[in-house]
Amino acid sequence: MKKFLRITLKALGILVAIVLIVGVIGYFYVSNTFLSFEDDYAENKDLKELTLADNTFIDRNGNGALDVYEDDRNPIEMRVADVLKQMTIDEKIHLLKGSGLASAMGIREDGIPGVVGTVVATPRLGLPEVNLSDGPAGLRIEPIREGIDRTFYCTAFPIATLLASTWNTDLVTEVGDAMGNEALEYGIDVILGPGANIHRHPFCGRNFEYYSEDPLITGKIGAAMVNGIEANGVGTSVKHFVANNQETNRNYNDTRVSDRAMREIYLKGFEIIVKDAQPWTIMSSYNKVNGTYTSESKDLLTDILRDDWGFKGLVMSDWFGGNDAVAMVKAGNDLLEPGTKKQWDALEEGYENGSITEEAIDTAVSRILTLVFKSQKMQGYAYSEKPDLKAHAAITRKSASEGMVLLKNEATLPLAQKLNVALIGVTSYDFIAGGTGSGDVNEAYTVSLEEGLQNNGYTINKVAKKTYQDHKAANEEAFKKPEGINAMFSPFIPPQIEYTDALMQDIVNSSDVAVVTIGRNSGEGGDRVVKDDWLLSQLEEEMLNKTTETFHKAGKKVVVVLNIGGVIETASWKSQPDAILLAWQGGQEGGNAVADILDGKVNPSGKLTMTFPVNIEDHASHANFPLDGKPMQMTDMFWGKDEKPEDEQEKDVDFTTYEEGIYVGYRHFDTKKLDVSYPFGYGLSYTDFAVSEVTASLENDVINVTAVVQNIGTNAGNEVVQVYVAKPETAIDRAAQELKAFAKTSLLAPEATQTLSLQIPVNELSYWNENTNNWSLEPGTYRIKVGTSSRSIAQEVEITLE
Ligand code: BGC
Repeated sequence: MKKFLRITLKALGILVAIVLIVGVIGYFYVSNTFLSFEDDYAENKDLKELTLADNTFIDRNGNGALDVYEDDRNPIEMRVADVLKQMTIDEKIHLLKGSGLASAMGIREDGIPGVVGTVVATPRLGLPEVNLSDGPAGLRIEPIREGIDRTFYCTAFPIATLLASTWNTDLVTEVGDAMGNEALEYGIDVILGPGANIHRHPFCGRNFEYYSEDPLITGKIGAAMVNGIEANGVGTSVKHFVANNQETNRNYNDTRVSDRAMREIYLKGFEIIVKDAQPWTIMSSYNKVNGTYTSESKDLLTDILRDDWGFKGLVMSDWFGGNDAVAMVKAGNDLLEPGTKKQWDALEEGYENGSITEEAIDTAVSRILTLVFKSQKMQGYAYSEKPDLKAHAAITRKSASEGMVLLKNEATLPLAQKLNVALIGVTSYDFIAGGTGSGDVNEAYTVSLEEGLQNNGYTINKVAKKTYQDHKAANEEAFKKPEGINAMFSPFIPPQIEYTDALMQDIVNSSDVAVVTIGRNSGEGGDRVVKDDWLLSQLEEEMLNKTTETFHKAGKKVVVVLNIGGVIETASWKSQPDAILLAWQGGQEGGNAVADILDGKVNPSGKLTMTFPVNIEDHASHANFPLDGKPMQMTDMFWGKDEKPEDEQEKDVDFTTYEEGIYVGYRHFDTKKLDVSYPFGYGLSYTDFAVSEVTASLENDVINVTAVVQNIGTNAGNEVVQVYVAKPETAIDRAAQELKAFAKTSLLAPEATQTLSLQIPVNELSYWNENTNNWSLEPGTYRIKVGTSSRSIAQEVEITLE
């Protein structure tokens, strides 16, 4: 009995200790992350004078006249300077950090549910709270609000990689315009996107949020997106600045990279965006570069971004990014998001002990105030909460079909009308609209391939459909989509179907053609892996083998649709099907967009913005990339992690060495003359084009290139002309060729021609000279190669620079 009592008491003691520890940690955790907004007003009485909602400017001082800053006829700089003079130091410091995750977590009652960050209000001066929301593929807010009898869905536009594959900057601007309009009408002031990181390696889990392995395409498409969104008076936050190319240990990884690779590859896309579109904000990334957190790097945030490139906006941190709040603000990271109590305290303390001056605080605050004054919130814009979702769905469908890439077509597509289509593979029915994490969108619906084909007049084969339905019924649990925070960090794909020979025979007997869909999903917090991801799974291989064998034996065709967000292995199986369409993840209208191509309503004109290699090991970056796709630890993100001593640091996890330097993507494959499965810039059409009469001339430090494109086939279509530049005689280490300009024709009828004219500023032929720490231009002869992929150059001309 005594023994029993002793054990029970001991167990109780342990339990109490656990509860206490969890409680203390939990309190610390919650008070430092989620609740800082409420703390703001509870703790700081000076800030509490007016309510948040009160941001009207009618004679706040009651003296019969508007202050300079209150009068919106005054230029913004003047208003900022005036209000800055009126702010207390506490108010200024308060503005440097957002209000925590309260809105995103649904803790706040007065916020917009789903808003992940804010610029805090300064009620005493009538400065409103500004809302920040994700993300690159459309606005991400909560669609359902408690007690409100309507929904707040947003449009899931195609993923960034698909949009880049259109090579059509005007179209991307149109998409951006629609996305920005949704933000405007839902009361959001800044969209946290677009993403401008480079596809250094195909396994980065967030590549779908980014455009390309090439910085020019990244920059031009990114600028088009920023211009489209910001035309609405809504800001963007171009992210993640910079060299954030893996998700493994993303908050702490140190990117070790040469200055040259930084300038020519990783920074270049951002540079183009800043110069072409001057975004309202830039988001610093989580990682370090050469030992310093980007968010604490004066070199990156001030010397390069502002002094070199002339960036005028503000820099915000990525969520919970950086380590030392004072160092961040001093480096030029003006706004800390989502903002924690810990950071607020650190900034107050830093000011008191002199480690940060009022001048440095004023610099950051002025940039934040500039954004506040530009915001629609400040203009008192009465947002409708009724964006035209129908019109935006139409733009989604159009852009999705333009960014899909036809990889193979042996006299198969377009399909004849009214066929009976056997849809094989689970993702034909559960089509994937986009990736997961903050790049996900809460859309009202996703059109599957099944629905898309039906909408386009095709009959869906019943045997194949029933196979899917039975499979789903038998795997009910595995088909349940994760919700909430789980949905954010676990890319979901339902389990694949196993087809028996008899079943496949039934399917072929009752259908005209097979469409096999291969689906992939990935997202924030984890990288991709070889098994069942880069490679087809065993079930997928069997499914493809069985379908192609059975259908071909019956004299019927097989089309593969790749519903993926990043590159997969294709070399080993691409000979099997008759056609392959890289559909990417086309947003909520994905199924319709694929059907538009399959039935020929749209002639495909998308081109790859990255290489599809034969082997993953062929990528030069592969020698230094994490390969086990370890998912992120949420606790690491919120709590921080102790620095490991140098000799305990794990390669590709704690640090990643970019040994390949500038040799990313085709720069490597083309220089090393490696075989690829599909080259950069590649994509087929239902017609053929000829590119000819290439000229290049130099005028006022700009190389003007012209090329004549003729449609020599039988269908109307668009072609993308790509200009690569090479310098065969060179004293430096150079890639075989680099993309320097591109343009897309308008829709050309058969036989029609169009002369395209493209400009390359001579400066863009410079390389980053690590000896002089500056750009250098080599004199001599450059070859201007004009073609339709990095491996299909139609004509070359030369230009000589003195
Ligand atoms: C992501 C950012 C995103 C932010 C807010 C972070 O985890 O890295 O891209 O904008 O969360 O959701």
